[in-house]
Amino acid sequence: MLFGGKFNYNKHMYTIHKATLKNIPEIKEVLKKTWVATYGYLFNENIINKITSDWHSVERLSQSIKNPESLMLIAKNKSGKIIGLCSTSKNNRILKISRLYVLPKYQKMGIGKKLLEQSILHFKHIYTIALEVEALNTNAIEFYKLQGFKTDKSFVENIEGIKIKSLSMFKKNKTVKKTS
Ligand SMILES: CC(C)(COP(=O)(O)OP(=O)(O)OC[C@H]1O[C@@H](n2cnc3c(N)ncnc32)[C@H](O)[C@@H]1OP(=O)(O)O)[C@@H](O)C(=O)NCCC(=O)NCCS
Repeated sequence: MLFGGKFNYNKHMYTIHKATLKNIPEIKEVLKKTWVATYGYLFNENIINKITSDWHSVERLSQSIKNPESLMLIAKNKSGKIIGLCSTSKNNRILKISRLYVLPKYQKMGIGKKLLEQSILHFKHIYTIALEVEALNTNAIEFYKLQGFKTDKSFVENIEGIKIKSLSMFKKNKTVKKTS
């Protein structure tokens, strides 16, 4: 289902859709490729394989797609290939961004911003948008700051035996809500 219309970056046209169960194998590929490019400095290949097969398992991705309190949007290029995605879930008045990934080749073309914006517009009565990001992922932190997010606090996570410093970030929602 087309979600929000067609968008352009220079001559590149892309469209945003609600993900369906059929998209899962391709979503897993996009997540894996982007994970390797993003977190290669933190984790070795074995750990990335373990994390991506666990966190991005068919069961977990199916839940994000089927749960009515969640939304998974995908961006597709002109050829219909998935080039980015955003998973969000609503808990009371808080919208949690659990995944926002754009394939490296398509980054800085406005796709991440559009996926985020469309995800927020989808939900009613959201006061706060929240997320967690690795403290060393300065690219993502810069991006989120530009989108109006502020750092809340830092904390340490143990991921596969590796201690990772992360930040929680949030912003107050100022957008008009369209649908539930
Ligand atoms: C972070 C990410 C989702 C941003 O998506 P994107 O499509 O590359 O970002 P956009 O092109 O929509 O950027 C929107 C704005 O932020 C700016 N921006 C993006 N990344 C930036 C960076 N690293 N430093 C400074 N500005 C940045 C863009 O220039 C653009 O500015 P503009 O609105 O003035 O034109 C994407 O880079 C990504 O997938 N990174 C790897 C995965 C990741 O770290 N995800 C977050 C996990 S919590």
